[in-house]
Amino acid sequence: MTTYREFHRRSIEQREAFWAEEAQRIHWHKPFARVLDYARPPFAKWFVGGETNLCHNALDRHLDARGEQAALVWISTEVDGRQTFTYRQLHAEVNRAAAMMRSLGVKRGDRVIIYMPMIPEACFAILACARIGAIHSVVFGGFAAASLAARIDDAKPSLMITADGGSRMGKPVLYKALVDESLKLAQHPPRKVLIFRRGLDANMPVVAGRDVDWKELAAQHQGASVPCAWLESNEPSYILYTSGTTGKPKGVQRDVGGYAVALASSMDRIFCGLPGETMFTTSDIGWVVGHSYIIYGPLLAGMTTIMYEGVPVRPDAGVWWKIVQDYKVSVMFSAPTAVRVLKKHDVAFLRKYDLSTLKHLFLAGEPLDEPTHRWVSDSLGRPVIDHYWQTETGWPLLSAHPGVEKTPLKMGSPSFPVYGYDVRLLHESTGKPVADGEKGVVTIAPPLPPGCMTTVWGDDERFVKTYFTDFKDQLVYSTFDWGIRDRDGYYFILGRTDDVINVAGHRLGTREIEEAVNMHPGIAECAVVGVADQLKGQLPMAFAVVKDPAAVASKEARMKLEGEVMQTVDKQLGAIGRPGRVFFVTLLPKTRSGKVLRRSIQALAEKRDPGDLTTIEDPGALEQIREALK
Ligand code: PRX
Repeated sequence: MTTYREFHRRSIEQREAFWAEEAQRIHWHKPFARVLDYARPPFAKWFVGGETNLCHNALDRHLDARGEQAALVWISTEVDGRQTFTYRQLHAEVNRAAAMMRSLGVKRGDRVIIYMPMIPEACFAILACARIGAIHSVVFGGFAAASLAARIDDAKPSLMITADGGSRMGKPVLYKALVDESLKLAQHPPRKVLIFRRGLDANMPVVAGRDVDWKELAAQHQGASVPCAWLESNEPSYILYTSGTTGKPKGVQRDVGGYAVALASSMDRIFCGLPGETMFTTSDIGWVVGHSYIIYGPLLAGMTTIMYEGVPVRPDAGVWWKIVQDYKVSVMFSAPTAVRVLKKHDVAFLRKYDLSTLKHLFLAGEPLDEPTHRWVSDSLGRPVIDHYWQTETGWPLLSAHPGVEKTPLKMGSPSFPVYGYDVRLLHESTGKPVADGEKGVVTIAPPLPPGCMTTVWGDDERFVKTYFTDFKDQLVYSTFDWGIRDRDGYYFILGRTDDVINVAGHRLGTREIEEAVNMHPGIAECAVVGVADQLKGQLPMAFAVVKDPAAVASKEARMKLEGEVMQTVDKQLGAIGRPGRVFFVTLLPKTRSGKVLRRSIQALAEKRDPGDLTTIEDPGALEQIREALK
């Protein structure tokens, strides 16, 4: 029996032989000539010369063996909907969507922005892009018009796909209206907008010549068959924007072959998902987890994937667990915040259903605190695996590997480095490896394994500068997370080293929120920090300097302005970035060189010691923060 340790060692020491074997899990139209080309560090090219297609591997390849098996089950507790698509039916829908896109002029290499709620058509659109070699960029529905416009201008799509609306907690969310607004702001709007009407916006405006109705176009492409474009392994499959320390989101670019191999491998070695079984990932298609483990991963593995539109506690806190029972879910993937939400409800909801088919519940996206880990393991009576990764990596970076070896779990720890990743914990200033039990920055010695981001869309230099220059004289990939390893080799993640915060598993840059706050005409400047929150992990708090102190002279005035600032953020960035509170001050604590002391502000907001203040320009500024927080 291969043990985890040996398995991991081989993946690093015999890198090429290891991945050449894993690559046999997918279909190659043309075999690759080289496993790895690392001639231009840190850019790694995997499976060079090989030709494949993600859609072929997700659908066509399974048609003979499992054409009549369910591939996609859609469940909506928002609009009370349920639909099942077999592999054959999903294949037909995707072929039709591909034909529709081609009729709208979409070609291989073109970008297609998908701004859609959790409906089957979003899955069709994603796979149709993969089929014809168009590069999809899915934007999370919670982002507002200005954020969407920034992504449009970076990706320069030839087509956008949306729906009239979505629904959240029973309330309609108008997607198309927001798309229209974003297209007014964008410099590079697409030629066409394809809209799936769900009947959620009776007054949806239509722009003649630009807007195309999905159902009308679909009627013209009934029974269409579109061949898969065979892509060289390193051609881009998609772009997914993610937040960093600047206000400008980065377009994480992924390849085709490496991604397919990494996902197919992880489905077996980490998630233990077998063909014919069912996977339920509760994320959204707008996030990396949705890409990898709602859409591609389970389908590559020949599983049934469940796509869920709704929240975990409506109609009651048993809704997910009833799905596990009814659909015999064997692999489930969710986030700690969802568990903390469930924790506020009667534990009986988790115990009411037969969960015996569930092999593991995987949790990721934010720190999983030990009490929550323990509570959910005990309540479900099933093993709960914390695992850690990033939009950039595309698949787990630290995890237990039950498909390799059943190692004991430690509460609050995402276990060990995943095979393929040469993980190093480095001292923040010396850059030397830290000892066990000592805090360091989680880094990866390149080359990054298959599946990881290959570059920043359109900006190779930014890729290198952002991720590989954190340590002087050393080319290592920084995750910007603090970690610690105990004597048994288990890792623990201690939070970010940069100004990225994590709100309910949603990754946001404080800089982005600050820019949104600053859009309010009454605000001169501001600092946003993430403050520990029992439910959401972190919550943004804004400290804003007003242009006119009279605007915040009374309590009523302050409340009014606070409400306005929150609305500005909703409009600029989206409600997910809305600060929990906005406090007003006349100056911000800064160093003499003008850097805002965010860490000190955060410490005060969390009732901790503000730390070293020798560089502060005006100590009175910190006093104001203290006062405001009272
Ligand atoms: O800070 C880490 C945190 O989420 C960040 C990545 O977020 P995102 O790009 O949205 O990708 C999520 C993919 C699951 C990381 O840099 N994070 C993710 N998983 C964990 C975590 N923090 C602690 N424990 C985890 N298991």
